Amino acid sequence: MYSLYSVVVESTVIELNGSNQYKGGNKMKKNIEPCYYGDYLHLDKVLGAQELQSEKYGDAAHEEMLFIIVHQVYELWFKQVLHELNAVIDTFNQETVKDQQLTSVVHRLQRVIQIQKLMNDQIAIMETMTPQQFLSFRDYLVPASGFQSIQFKRLEIALGLKRDFRIDFDKQSFYNRLTDKDRALLENLESKPSLFELVDNWLSRMPLLKTEEFDFWQYYKKAADEMLDDDHQTISSNDMLSENEMRQELKELQATKENFDALFDEAKFENLRNESKFRLSHKALLSALFIKQYSEEPIFNLPFQLITALTEIDEQLTIWRYRHAMMVQRMLGTKIGTGGSSGHHYLKKTTESNRIYLDFFNMATFLLPKSALPELPEIVRRRLGFYLQ
Ligand code: HEM
Repeated sequence: MYSLYSVVVESTVIELNGSNQYKGGNKMKKNIEPCYYGDYLHLDKVLGAQELQSEKYGDAAHEEMLFIIVHQVYELWFKQVLHELNAVIDTFNQETVKDQQLTSVVHRLQRVIQIQKLMNDQIAIMETMTPQQFLSFRDYLVPASGFQSIQFKRLEIALGLKRDFRIDFDKQSFYNRLTDKDRALLENLESKPSLFELVDNWLSRMPLLKTEEFDFWQYYKKAADEMLDDDHQTISSNDMLSENEMRQELKELQATKENFDALFDEAKFENLRNESKFRLSHKALLSALFIKQYSEEPIFNLPFQLITALTEIDEQLTIWRYRHAMMVQRMLGTKIGTGGSSGHHYLKKTTESNRIYLDFFNMATFLLPKSALPELPEIVRRRLGFYLQ
């Protein structure tokens, strides 16, 4: 029996006894100098930072103020998101991640999600500007562009969208259009592990429940085969389907079967990974799948919340890309962007291709209903639970 709350899974160490108890910090000091609202927030700088280009060249365009403020607000939120992501990255950039730390990680990622939701809603404020109002100052902005939002690129890279995973135009775009200093900063970041890579490592470190007396994945394969055979039977005996529809459905089922096969065959999996069908490593994907299947087991609760939060972050980022692309279509039609891209067309493409945690979405393919899941042996169940001696 494990001692009072002890090591349960190699990569997730829980120690509430002894030296790892929460410790109080030093006593908080009292402030000596009075704090003044405007000084504390540096409002002179923040509120003095809206310079209209249109005013410089002629009459001030009323909507340019909105355009600047909305962008500035975004940049402030990007700063906060980076603050959270960097703290999460620091936590995962260690050999072990303790459960207390995982609690903070999930909490921080939840905060990121709330900020993303707010950022997505802000598009509607920008859209209160009509395309014609935008035209009254747009030409003064050339060649500045959202491509040059270094914080946005930092955020993408930190999450795991490195150069190799970007669509072609995006691969060169931000490197061609930036100052040497900004380019060097991003290139340096590209050489560091992203959250995606760190989470992949962390998941890969989890034992895959193969003991002498129990091979979970063998049981899983058997249950999956039975489920897929049932599906085959359901399709083949469906009188409502035309010959063509039946052929199509069976073809899709065959593709699903091949993906399942790859799950249990590392070499096949690597082939599909080379074709970009998967991005997570084989071990990491299996661990994530196990966590999702048995998410109600106490030990998997936080890892499950982590996977769910990363899925949500990817979804919210994709929603932002889509809403931004729609706004651009509304403002520009098919005109090219000030940064030289094809505008709406390019941005729409990034919504489909610049995905990061897609495997966490596609994993639903491999989920089995609870009723079909193999019963875990007692020894394994005990390892996954918390027990008081
Ligand atoms: C009238 C409003 C807007 C228009 C017409 C517009 C237009 C565009 C266009 C055409 C691009 C593609 C690059 C290019 O060729 O310039 C782009 C990229 C971008 N825009 Fe906007 N934008 C608007 C508002 C915003 C706002 C409010 C933000 C918030 C920060 C933003 C952030 C970005 C970012 C980060 C990119 C790079 C996206 C990527 O590379 O995937 N844009 N924008």
